[in-house]
Amino acid sequence: MNWQTIFKGTGFTSISPDAIEILKDSLFCVDGKGMIAKILQPGEKEYSPLLSQAARENRLVELKPHQYFLPGFVDLHIHAPQWPQIGTALDLPLNEWLNSCTFPLEARYEDTEYARQVYTHLVDTLIANGTTTALYFATIHKESSYLLAEICAEKGQRGLVGKVVMDHQEENPDFYRDASPEEALADTEEFIQQVQELGKTVPQGVYPVVTPRFIPSCSDEALAGLGRLAAKYNVHVQSHCSEGDWEHNFVRKRFGKNDAAALNDFGLLREKSVMAHSVLLDRDDRALFKKTGTAVAHCPLSNAYFANCVAPIKEYMSEGLEVGLGTDISAGYSPGILQNIRQAVTSSRMLEDGTDPSRSPEDRGRRDSRITLKEAFYLATAGGGEALSLPVGKLAPGYAFDAQVVDMTAGNPPFLILPEMDRDILFQKVLFGADPEHIRSVYIQGRKVL
Ligand code: GUN
Ligand code: FE
Repeated sequence: MNWQTIFKGTGFTSISPDAIEILKDSLFCVDGKGMIAKILQPGEKEYSPLLSQAARENRLVELKPHQYFLPGFVDLHIHAPQWPQIGTALDLPLNEWLNSCTFPLEARYEDTEYARQVYTHLVDTLIANGTTTALYFATIHKESSYLLAEICAEKGQRGLVGKVVMDHQEENPDFYRDASPEEALADTEEFIQQVQELGKTVPQGVYPVVTPRFIPSCSDEALAGLGRLAAKYNVHVQSHCSEGDWEHNFVRKRFGKNDAAALNDFGLLREKSVMAHSVLLDRDDRALFKKTGTAVAHCPLSNAYFANCVAPIKEYMSEGLEVGLGTDISAGYSPGILQNIRQAVTSSRMLEDGTDPSRSPEDRGRRDSRITLKEAFYLATAGGGEALSLPVGKLAPGYAFDAQVVDMTAGNPPFLILPEMDRDILFQKVLFGADPEHIRSVYIQGRKVL
């Protein structure tokens, strides 16, 4: 017998970017390591005996009517230290926002007690929003960055955490900067080793991430050294890439090439690399992403405020790039991947249809840009798992049992549910209408964390 717990209920999972599978009244058999060993459908020979045995042995978790399993969400881009300023200061351009609001806030994480208070609240909030895996930027401070990894480990969340590198002597403020490239690299290497050690004791995994903030904040020496560390330890890499006009043009001026090419020259585009935003990728940049296995973290809420345009995500998907979703807290005002699923769909419709009423409908928008709800769901779950090269984001054998239970009878008032609504309709209603109050419980690697 290779299962530990059986979860019985109806689940929704992506099976490809544009198709979902509805697993009706299924038995999700989860092994002692928190992995889905098999999924049984009603009518299969083993179904009834296994169900009776699990009930007898007190190893059955059974959903109630109108409760559904969804895979846990993957947040591919989030700045943990920016949580205190969520929902504020969104009227400034990116570089002003960084200098006047964000860097002074991030500098406070030298104080590990401040960090503990914020990070604890944030991880609880993300879990309550159904986020089971998160790829975090912390700050330049290795102690409080490590604390974030510890808090994820403790709370059962799969956290991938980066100590941020920003060592450029002119481009960063004195009060918030790595002292030198040598120190930034030494701190990063120590951080990688510490988090890898911690990860060995954590069932759901915690992982260190090589994290140059973005090219403008890093010296050539630091960027090259980080590329070497990524290869030496084969760890994940994250940064911001071609987010908007200001940053894109800054890099073009410094290197005479686009972000993607410059990052690649430093060895930072790799199979386990995730580049936030990547709004302004040209054909060559996209080819580089594809060749190296670099993924895009699409952050549609943030992009509406800071990117100066809409990322053509459908085009990236059609070309076979790996794409997932990120909240980009606090440039994005919500901790919810659900809100970003909705915004991904909405932004893509505006890109396709255009927005300028003085133009004719034929040349108002950009053809074939829309993302369907099912595609956005894929990005939020399976796409995120693929981006990270981890077996997460699907309710399928061989994947970690990372699941959220959405309860349509929760909330005040609860969802209107009528007999004519089939499960496909209910799925759409959940994705457009659910809030944290409908997320009844959350499991990560088979363990109940909410
Ligand atoms: N580019 C560099 N740092 C940041 C950040 O904190 N947020 C966003 N949106 N873009 C960045
Ligand atoms: Fe960001």
